[in-house]
Formats: sequence, structure tokens, C-alpha cells
Amino acid sequence: MDLRARLEAARDAALKAGAMLRERHSFHVEHKAENDYVTDMDRASERMIIAALRERFPEDGFLGEEYGVTERRDGMWVIDPIDGTTNFVKNIPLYTISIAYMEKGELKLGVVYAPALDEMYTAVKGGGAFCNGQPIHVSAVTEPRDAVAAMSFVHRHPEVAKKVMPQLAALLLEVNDFRRMGSAAFDLCCVACGRTEAFFEAKLELYDIAAGVLIVREAGGKVTGWRGGADCLVSGNVMATNGLMHDFFYDRLRLD
Ligand code: IPD
Ligand code: CA
Ligand code: CA
Repeated sequence: MDLRARLEAARDAALKAGAMLRERHSFHVEHKAENDYVTDMDRASERMIIAALRERFPEDGFLGEEYGVTERRDGMWVIDPIDGTTNFVKNIPLYTISIAYMEKGELKLGVVYAPALDEMYTAVKGGGAFCNGQPIHVSAVTEPRDAVAAMSFVHRHPEVAKKVMPQLAALLLEVNDFRRMGSAAFDLCCVACGRTEAFFEAKLELYDIAAGVLIVREAGGKVTGWRGGADCLVSGNVMATNGLMHDFFYDRLRLD
């Protein structure tokens, strides 16, 4: 288990795929599902990342959004080749590449790269969190009126949205403001570096959040499921905060 070498490899792969995405050569857009775009760039990015990692770590397995599980091993790479495809398609610069490495289900390292911003977030378990090599930390805000929370409207799951929207509407009256960034991995990094105090979203997938969850935890933040819910890595219902405000947000949002 050489996490430093794996971190280097993940960073290199993210930079390489990120350079391709940043060029924005013509790409083809399809609807994967209702309100859910996929482009040939999503697939090309995933192929490029897996090829780069496999070359250096042929014994590892891969779980990616576009190609699923290609090998199941104790050491698994979990990849979202473009998190925020809608932003990518619309030329909104908030899209990321998310790469995590897990061993027997435990998060070991996370890399989130935002190519259009050239921000590279990294964390290795127990080693702190960084943006472009500089240590990052969650914010020290404790007052709801100073808190900015990133969230989504759970627009792909109307039955969940119906339940959650009234809770969000009530919460909006207590905090400074909400943001809807459009990339869960970027949302998590914003909590990690203290831009926002919280991020919550329901029905995410492991590849959306694995890297970002570790980055928040290593930056001193807290990540759980929603009140009444299971572990976020299993449920996909994520609540990430600066830790200081976790109880506040946890109290107000329930999903069960
Ligand atoms: C999406 C983004 C978005 C979130 C969606 C995700 P994708 O990922 O993270 O912020 O609200 O639920 O599916 O589809 O662009 O990889
Ligand atoms: Ca995603
Ligand atoms: Ca994606």
C-alpha cells in the first residue's frame, strides 16, 4: 500500500483528463436519463483516468460512473470523470474530476480537480487536506446568520424533493444564504476550504462523494448522513459541515 505513489498517480491522471476537458473540443451531448446529461467527454475522461492508473497499479480495481465496476479488488479506485456535467455542457466553470482510492471499503485518498479553476484538492487519510499544495481547513463560523450552505433541489428525485423542499425552505430563513453549485465534489471541497459552512444533498452515488468526503474530514470537518439516515457512503444522503455547525444542520434536515 503506497498511498503517496497513488496520490501522485491520481493527481497526474486528473491533470491529464482536466487538460482535455478544459480544451472543450467539440463534444456530443446525450440524455442518460431525465435531467441527466452525459457527453463523450465523460467517457473519454474515465477511460483516460483508468488507463493512467492501471498502468501504474495493475493490481487495483475500478469503479467509475460511466463504465461501472471493471474489476473488483480489495484496493478500488472510485472515479467520477466529470462531476457537474450540466455545468460542463453549459460552459459554467464549476465541474470537477473526482478520484478516490478505497481499501476494503475504507477511504484512503481523495483527489478533486476543477480544471477550469485549476484547483487541485487532495487528501490522504490522516495527512490533512490541501488545495494546490497549500493546507486547507474548514471555517470557524458558528452563527447560522453567517452560514452559507450549498445544496441541491434533488431535482432528479421528485418524491424526495417533495419531502425535502419544505425543510430547505424553513432552513433558508435561518441561514445567510444557499448556493447550488452543480458539482457535489466541488461542494464538498468548498466546505473543506471554508468557503461554505455546509453542503447537503440526497441520493448521490459513491463516485460523486468518495473523494470529497475524505477531503472534508481531513480538513477538520464532519460528514454524516441526514438525521434518521444511514452512513452517507451507503445512503448517498450527505451532510458535510465545518463540524461546529453540524448539530444545527443535522437537527433541521431529516431524511428517512
Ligand atoms: C451530479 C452533480 C450535481 C448533483 C447531482 C449529481 P454528474 O453529478 O454532482 O451537483 O446535484 O446529483 O448527479 O451527474 O454531473 O456527475
Ligand atoms: Ca457526479
Ligand atoms: Ca459524472
